Order: sequence, then C-alpha cells, then structure tokens
Amino acid sequence: MSPTRFRVRACAKINLGLKIGPRRRDGFHELRTVFQTISLADRVELSLTPGRGVSLELAGRLAPTGQDNLAVRAAELAADAYGLRWHVGIRLEKRIPSGAGLGGGSSDAAAVLRALASACRTPPPQREQFAVASALGSDVPAFLLGGTVLGLGRGDEVYALADLSAWHCVLAMPRDHDGGGIATAEAFERWDQGLTAARHSDTLVEFCSLVEQVLPAFRTLRNRGRRLGPQGLTGPKVHAGIENDFESEVFSLSPDFSRIHRELRRASAAWVGLSGSGATQFGLFDRAGAAALVAARLARRYSSWRARMVSRHAYARGLQAW
Ligand code: C5P
Repeated sequence: MSPTRFRVRACAKINLGLKIGPRRRDGFHELRTVFQTISLADRVELSLTPGRGVSLELAGRLAPTGQDNLAVRAAELAADAYGLRWHVGIRLEKRIPSGAGLGGGSSDAAAVLRALASACRTPPPQREQFAVASALGSDVPAFLLGGTVLGLGRGDEVYALADLSAWHCVLAMPRDHDGGGIATAEAFERWDQGLTAARHSDTLVEFCSLVEQVLPAFRTLRNRGRRLGPQGLTGPKVHAGIENDFESEVFSLSPDFSRIHRELRRASAAWVGLSGSGATQFGLFDRAGAAALVAARLARRYSSWRARMVSRHAYARGLQAW
C-alpha cells in the first residue's frame, strides 16, 4: 500500500439558489440547488497504518468528536465498503464554522473518502464511491466533484457543471449563530410547518432552466478578460426565481439577517444569497477591493469571512499524497 499519508484541503461550499420540493417517502425533501466550492477550507491529514480502527485529532474551531464527527464515520464506512485493512489516523484542523450551511462536516467526510479511494491499489468504482458519500449525508457527493455542481434528488444526485469564474465571496452571519448554527433537520421541519401545498413543484420544475439562464453571466467575467459594467451583472433580478427557499424562515430568526443582506446589496454584490439552511449569507463580487470594503464593514458587527470560488480543477489539486 502506498502512499500512506494525505493532506486534503476540504473546501466549504455555498449554494447558488436552493428550491425545496415535497417531503419524500424516505423522509428527505426533493431539492434543486447549485453547489459551489470556495476557498474557506478545513485541513484534513490522513495517515494510514496497518491495522483497523479510526482515530481523530482536532485543532482549530470547535467540531464534533468521535462517532459524531462525519469524517470518522466516513473512514469507518469506506473501510467497510472498500474492504480496507488500515488504521486511519485523521488530523482535522477546523476552519469552517459548523452549522453554518457551508457544508464543513460533509466536505471533511468527502476529503476522507477521496484520500482513501486514491490510496486503494484499484480505486473503487465511481458508483460505489458516490453511494458511500450519499449514505453519509445529502451534501457529501457534491464534495466528491468540487467546482460548480448541480444537486438534484435530496441534493445527493450530482452533476458537474462548467465552472464559474473565480468570484470573490464575502460571507457573514450574526455573531450569536457563529458556533451554534442552524440544524438542517429543524430548518426542514420549519419549512414544512409554514408550507402550503401550492408552494413547491412549480419552483422545482423551473429551477434548472432558470439556473441555465443565470449561470453563464457568472462564467464570462474573467474568462473573456473583460469587466462587465455595474448594470451588466448586478442587481437583485439576476437570480430571480432561484432564491434560497430557506431565506424567509431564517430571516425571521433575527433582524441581523436582513441587515447583512441589505449591507451586501448596498455594496453592489452581483449575487446575494443564503447558503444551505443558514446561517451564512454570501455576496459575490468581481473586484477584490469592493469585497474587502464590505467584509471590513460587516466584521464590525458580525462574523465575516472572505473567500474565492474554487474551480473543479483547483479542488482536485487540493488532495495531495506525501
Ligand atoms: O442528509 P443530511 O444528513 O445532511 O440531512 C440532515 C437532515 O435534514 C435529514 O435527516 C432530513 O431531516 C433533512 N433533509 C431533508 N431533505 C433533504 C436533505 C436533508 O429533509 N434533501
């Protein structure tokens, strides 16, 4: 077996639009979304030694320990599914806030799966890798691909889309949600409670065609080497129809959510949205300067981060054997 040590940059994601459909027989909701990996990332190190079992060492931000950590469960499930006879030592340096809608736990799990698959003499078939990822969580398969990814089904049916340009992202959430976060299951419960039958289906049907109209504008920017004027991309209408369905529920939790939203809009972000079921909102900017200004302003009152979008190619390079 070689190599035996891996370093993985486990990127966070944002959701470019998210539409919720009816609850399915398996208890999950039918979804339509676009995942986008960004440069805010955890660092995952794996060391494989002969034997069995999984150990976890944590550094950085607070994260679940033992079996509650999805990276540990990923190692156990993959060891089982791929018939591995290794002890998997995981060192996880946590930088992505938990319960933030940024997919940190799912990305860590996918990082473990990617490393273990590449350590196998014969890599497990893709279908098997995606089945293991899906068994761990709805968001995990998207992190096997990275870049810009269409998510269907319960979010786990994933399709690689052409990458967008490397937009600057400003992320922010109210400070009292940083560390606490919003539980996905509860967010879906709340969605069901506020639901009238007429509210789903239509938006699901429209999502793919609307996304198809919106995303090209976010690809051209740097690819064609030209800047679009302020009216070229900006403005609230650019992604009308694919806004995150969780927004109204999340915004009702605290007036700070609307304040962050307004602040990002005022700074002329080309897209302002909520990631997953919250609590993170993001703004996309074509210029670093504008992103830096609004990030600094937001940081006075809220938890705020800056990042860039990460393409599929760059994402793949984040897995290194040594
Ligand atoms: O798949 P994951 O473990 O991330 O899901 C957490 C919870 O969120 C599920 O148990 C379910 O209650 C809810 N969920 C849902 N529909 C989805 C994804 C998640 O209802 N598409």
